[in-house]
Amino acid sequence: MYPSILSFPEGFLWGTATASHQVEGGNTNNDWYLWEQQPGRIRNGDRAGTACDWWNRAEEDFDRARELGQNTHRLSLEWSRLEPRPGEWDTSAFARYRQVLAGLRQRHLEPMVTLFHFTLPIWVAERGGWMNPETISLFSRYVEHVVRELGDLVTLWCTINEPVVYAYQGYLRGIWPPGRQSFPEAVRVLRHLLLAHGEAYRLIHALQGEAQVGLVKNMMYVEPWRPDSWLDRKWAGFMNRLYNELSLIAVTEGRFLPPLGRATVPKLIDSIDFLGVNYYTRALFGVDKRRWMNSLNPRLNTAGIISDYEYGEVFPEGLYRILKHVQRCGKPIYITENGLPDADDDLRPYFILTHLQQVWRAIQEGVPVRGYYHWSLLDNFEWSEGYRMRFGLIEVDFATQRRRVRRSGRLYAEICQTNAITPELVERYAPEAMEAVFGARLPSAVKEMG
Ligand code: NOJ
Repeated sequence: MYPSILSFPEGFLWGTATASHQVEGGNTNNDWYLWEQQPGRIRNGDRAGTACDWWNRAEEDFDRARELGQNTHRLSLEWSRLEPRPGEWDTSAFARYRQVLAGLRQRHLEPMVTLFHFTLPIWVAERGGWMNPETISLFSRYVEHVVRELGDLVTLWCTINEPVVYAYQGYLRGIWPPGRQSFPEAVRVLRHLLLAHGEAYRLIHALQGEAQVGLVKNMMYVEPWRPDSWLDRKWAGFMNRLYNELSLIAVTEGRFLPPLGRATVPKLIDSIDFLGVNYYTRALFGVDKRRWMNSLNPRLNTAGIISDYEYGEVFPEGLYRILKHVQRCGKPIYITENGLPDADDDLRPYFILTHLQQVWRAIQEGVPVRGYYHWSLLDNFEWSEGYRMRFGLIEVDFATQRRRVRRSGRLYAEICQTNAITPELVERYAPEAMEAVFGARLPSAVKEMG
């Protein structure tokens, strides 16, 4: 027996996510701006530039989000705008963010606010960024200001976005600023990010009793590259621990385990009110004896469905398994990001339906998922990939700033508006997903059988 409709819990949050540098435009005072000026750093020599021009026109896109039935939006604040120089607070930037957050509220879009989403003010980067333990207290000072100034407009806070991804890309692979390739440095940065999370968690609660504060964790569904190899199985287990587990143990049990060190950190014990899960793909890990560094890089299952530019494998079941796994945190869960680059929009409807079916399945089994944020509302600046990867439910023409809602945007709107997925909806938008979403028999076949 298959359900004829997948209904989501009452009050479920349906939205999309963005991040300051990727959408605002005009961010010239952070480390990414400097990075983009260096030849060869960004695909096709792209620069964030004007991006989606949100510093001037975010509200126009909030209108679109609202029209598309969404009831929440996750965005980030740009530290380099709010504190352009040490201890100097830019009142006009605070005023603009007030407007933006109030704009969300007016449209009945519950704001979820990320405090650090990959970009640092140049002056912080010059002092060593997250390699320097001083950044933890600088971050706390910034968080304190933000909560005092804007806290009346925000209840849902995310401290740090994807700490492991940040450490990995900037300090191990070296493709993001500051372009380092050092395992010990990556580990040190991760430790500092987690400590900063703990400090921020306590601070926000001291200032705002009703705040809900979470960490946003990228979770890859990890499997061995060659399942019959004992070594790959062991290695995949180790990488799973490193990429997925260590940070979760840190923010729940307050323990740093190797290679993070070995310590109990009281401030980190029980330091999340919710867990933000960013899920994109399954990742295969295996040992490459000839090029050791390759063993640290996730591989894709090439037999699977792969999104544009081999960004990731479309593997919805991974989301279910991750949700079942993180249920042990004992905290509410938000899917703070989930999406794919798909310029033609030929995979996205299937992607959305099949992933949401897995979310629904996890909820049926008691996993407390409270909301889902698709990445992203609109095409935006995809870091070192520049503008070629198109993640938006809304397509953006960056030359004219024109928007066009993709089919998947309309599909998602119907789900948000009805809080449900029906066979009729699947049939209309992605009949190829019917089997995955509603089981083997098509409803029409069921009817025919009487
Ligand atoms: C995760 C990051 O948080 C976001 O900044 C990025 O654009 C998406 N994944 C897509 O890669």
